[in-house]
Amino acid sequence: MKANIGLIGLAVMGQNLVLNMNDHGFRVAVYNRTLSTVDEFLAGPAKNTQVMGTHSLEELVDSLESPRIVMLMVKAGEVVDQYIGKLLPLLSPGDIIIDGGNSLFTDTTRRTQSLQEKSIHYIGAGVSGGEEGARHGPSIMPGGDKAAWTTVKPILQAISAKVGGHPCCEWVGDNGAGHYVKMVHNGIEYGDMQLISEAYHLLSEGLKLSADEMHDIFAEWNLGVLSSYLIEITANILAYRDENGQPLLEKILDTAGQKGTGKWTGINALELGIPLTLIGEAVFARCLSAQKEERVRAAGLLPKPPRQFNGDRKAMIDAIRDALYAAKIISYAQGFRLMREASEEYGFSLNYGEIALMWRGGCIIRSRFLNDIKQAYDTNPELKNLLLADFFIEAMEKAEAGWRKAVMLGVELGIPTPAMASGLAYYDGYRSERLPANLLQAQRDYFGAHTYERIDRPRGEFFHTDWTGHGGKTASSTYNL
Ligand code: 6PG
Repeated sequence: MKANIGLIGLAVMGQNLVLNMNDHGFRVAVYNRTLSTVDEFLAGPAKNTQVMGTHSLEELVDSLESPRIVMLMVKAGEVVDQYIGKLLPLLSPGDIIIDGGNSLFTDTTRRTQSLQEKSIHYIGAGVSGGEEGARHGPSIMPGGDKAAWTTVKPILQAISAKVGGHPCCEWVGDNGAGHYVKMVHNGIEYGDMQLISEAYHLLSEGLKLSADEMHDIFAEWNLGVLSSYLIEITANILAYRDENGQPLLEKILDTAGQKGTGKWTGINALELGIPLTLIGEAVFARCLSAQKEERVRAAGLLPKPPRQFNGDRKAMIDAIRDALYAAKIISYAQGFRLMREASEEYGFSLNYGEIALMWRGGCIIRSRFLNDIKQAYDTNPELKNLLLADFFIEAMEKAEAGWRKAVMLGVELGIPTPAMASGLAYYDGYRSERLPANLLQAQRDYFGAHTYERIDRPRGEFFHTDWTGHGGKTASSTYNL
């Protein structure tokens, strides 16, 4: 009997997706570059399943029913291109390749288009949820060549997470749309993690709370508006003791790793000219954390304010919760605003409510809050920025005072809150009718004759002033990002 789908790459995510597919009644053929991994998988986790092991790409492709579906779960980058190159001579027109890794969306667009010319359908699918998600239901964000969607939909939707019976997997859009949305998901993941870490920092260093006290706080926060997977695991992490009965968290070296998807999100935001300040700060906070030796040296040389908090602890804990919530709203508002811009720029035709639904279950950023985002887009699909939706206007109103208080605590005690504070700066900027960009424009015109518009003249009319009396009258050409 032929297999329904083939999967290449038996690292933990690949193995778990295979077992998940098997649980849902799909027959999966597997291949891995290190062949012993195939045998070990079949003798171990895949024992007594209908998974078929293969020892060459030819054998893998031959074992598949037509049209063939081959899913790649390999390292993003060149390795994907190498496998596509090896598979091409073995596949027939109408066959489908799915890339389930964290590929750069521009690579996925290139691959989709070049394979389309060869009549091979290509799908770039973001898969989120880590090992656990892959095994029991991840969030899956497929995009690429829509002609293949009806064929792969039953498999991908069956193995995806479900919330209220709704699969956390829907067609995202053409070309690299699926990997684009996964990239933004990861950027938001960076933002959420950084915000939670800042809240932990304020609680531990500012209020001097113990791991047990913080466990209780996060567990309580998980019952309210902040309810989410990342808050839940933070509470669990705080409760975890090492072999000596001490909180393991306190012994973990404070240098963060990263594989690049947060950075890509930031780079793309800069390219599209969309403020994505909170996620940007989250990426840079990881970079700063990695400069451990330099920081240790600086800590010994640069004075810091005394870390003594004398106020009302209960009120400050609530303020930190509000700061976390308000800044989280900013992060999602910026992320969704970026997707709106990208959708137009790259022709993705993204459905924002559907994206919120896809992220509601299975993935790392799953949370109750995504329901509110879905509702905001249901009410107004044209919503330019989440901050303009009634629900979020009200939420910000309630959280604003606490947010400012928490950021001020960090400023006063010298505890860095880059994501919370930059979120607040964006908020204050976004709701400012007038910003000091008039001075920027004057400076640009002063030194470079870059011209400016006037508030007392129609938009689109550009002026140049000879500020010094000895400059020229000629303006430089005008262009806008
Ligand atoms: C997911 C995660 C997953 C992975 C990140 C980690 O959605 O399941 O985002 O893709 O955990 O790649 O990224 P960093 O190593 O950059 O933190």
